[in-house]
Amino acid sequence: MFEHLCILIKDTIVLKAPKKSTLLLRMIVLTFAMVCGIYICSMCMKQISTRTNVGFTNVQMHKKPCEAPNIDPREKRYVHYPNPKTFSRAECACNPVRYFAILSTQRSGSGWFETLLNSHANISSNGEIFSVKDRRSNISTIVETLDTIYNLDWLSSASKNECTAAVGLKWMLNQGLMVNHKEIVEYFNTNGVSAIFLFRRNLLRRMISILANSYDQNAKPLNGTHKSHVHSPHEAAILAKYKPTINATMLIPNLRQVEEMVAKALEDFKSTRHIILYYEDIIKNHTKLVEVQDFLKVPQVDLKSRQVKIHKGSLSRQVENWGDIKKALKGTPYESFLHADYRM
Ligand SMILES: *[C@@H]1O[C@H](CO)[C@@H](O)[C@H](O)[C@H]1NC(C)=O
Ligand SMILES: *[C@@H]1O[C@H](CO)[C@@H](O)[C@H](O)[C@H]1NC(C)=O
Ligand SMILES: *[C@@H]1O[C@H](CO)[C@@H](O)[C@H](O)[C@H]1NC(C)=O
Ligand SMILES: *[C@@H]1O[C@H](CO)[C@@H](O)[C@H](O)[C@H]1NC(C)=O
Ligand SMILES: *[C@@H]1O[C@H](CO)[C@@H](O)[C@H](O)[C@H]1NC(C)=O
Repeated sequence: MFEHLCILIKDTIVLKAPKKSTLLLRMIVLTFAMVCGIYICSMCMKQISTRTNVGFTNVQMHKKPCEAPNIDPREKRYVHYPNPKTFSRAECACNPVRYFAILSTQRSGSGWFETLLNSHANISSNGEIFSVKDRRSNISTIVETLDTIYNLDWLSSASKNECTAAVGLKWMLNQGLMVNHKEIVEYFNTNGVSAIFLFRRNLLRRMISILANSYDQNAKPLNGTHKSHVHSPHEAAILAKYKPTINATMLIPNLRQVEEMVAKALEDFKSTRHIILYYEDIIKNHTKLVEVQDFLKVPQVDLKSRQVKIHKGSLSRQVENWGDIKKALKGTPYESFLHADYRM
C-alpha cells in the first residue's frame, strides 16, 4: 500500500515543483519530502518487524502442532512439549511431558523411592541436584537449574530417553527449598510443576538412620567406602551392626523441630499441585505406587528397586540406650514411635 503512496508523493513533487521556484515553495517541498521520508521509513520498519513476527509464528506452528486433543483445560498448565537442545525427542516429540519434584527430608526413603520411579521407562528423576551448593546459591541459579532439568537437558545417570513422559528431581527441604519457597512456589505454579511430598511417619527411625549414616560417613565399614544405600542383605547387615546412642535430652525438641519443618513445607507449598506420601505407607501398600503413576499420568507398570533396607526389625535392638529413649518418649505425643513397626 505504501508503494502507491510513494508514487503519489513523487507525482505531487514533480507536478508542483516546476518553474515557481520561490524559496518558500522549495522549503515546503523539502519539508514535505522529509516528512514523507520519515513516514515511509517507519512503515518499512513496521513491515519488517511484522514479517519477522509472522516468521516466528510460522516456525512455532511447524514445530509445535503438539496438542493432546482430549485434554482437560485445567490440566493444560501441567502438560509440556519440551524441545531439548542436547538431543532430539524423535518419534516422541509430541508425547506430553509432566514436570515433578520430590520434596523430602534426608533419610526418608527418597533415594529408594527415586530408584523405583527410575525403573519406569517413561520417568526420569535426576537425583539430588541441589545437594551442590552453587546450584542453590540464589533464586537465579535455582531457576536456571530447573529450566535445564525440565527442558530435558540435564545430564545425569537417570534414565533419560526421547520417550520420557515425566521429568524431575529429588529436593531436600534444607537445600534452598524452604529459604526460597515464595519464588519456587511461583515457579511451580507458572511452569506447571507438580510436587511429590515424601516424608517418614516414624521420625525416631529416621533419626537412627541419620545417626548411622553420619557414622558411616567416617567409619566406612564397607571396604572403606561410604554408602547411604545398599544393594545386598550382606551389606545391610554390616551397616546395621552399628548402634547409635541418642541424646535423650535433645530427643523431643529434635522430633518437634522436624515435625514443624514438615508442617511448614506443606503450608508453604499448599497452592501447588501436589501429593503427600509416607515412606511407611508405600512399604505397606504397593497400591500407593499406582497412585503416584496416576498422579504423574504415566502408564502403570510394576516399579522395582534393587535397594535393600538397612535397619529392620524392632527398634529396641537398633540403639544403644533404648531404656533412656523409652523413658523420654513415654506419655508424649511421640510414644507411638517406640512401637510402630512394619514388615518388608
Ligand atoms: C547468584 O549466584 C551465582 C553463583 O554463585 C552468582 O554468579 C550470581 O551473581 C548470583 N546472582 C545474584 C542475583 O545474586
Ligand atoms: C513410554 O516409553 C515407550 C518406550 O520408550 C514409548 O513407546 C511410549 O510412547 C512412552 N509413553 C509415553 C506416555 O510417553
Ligand atoms: C570388599 O571387597 C571384596 C572384593 O571386592 C568383596 O568380596 C567383599 O564382599 C567386600 N566386602 C564388603 C563388606 O563389601
Ligand atoms: C545432650 O545434648 C545437650 C545439648 O546439646 C548436652 O548439653 C548434653 O551434654 C548431651 N547429653 C549427652 C548424654 O550427650
Ligand atoms: C492402599 O493405597 C490405596 C491408594 O492410595 C488406597 O486406596 C487403599 O485404601 C490402601 N489400602 C490399604 C489397606 O491401606
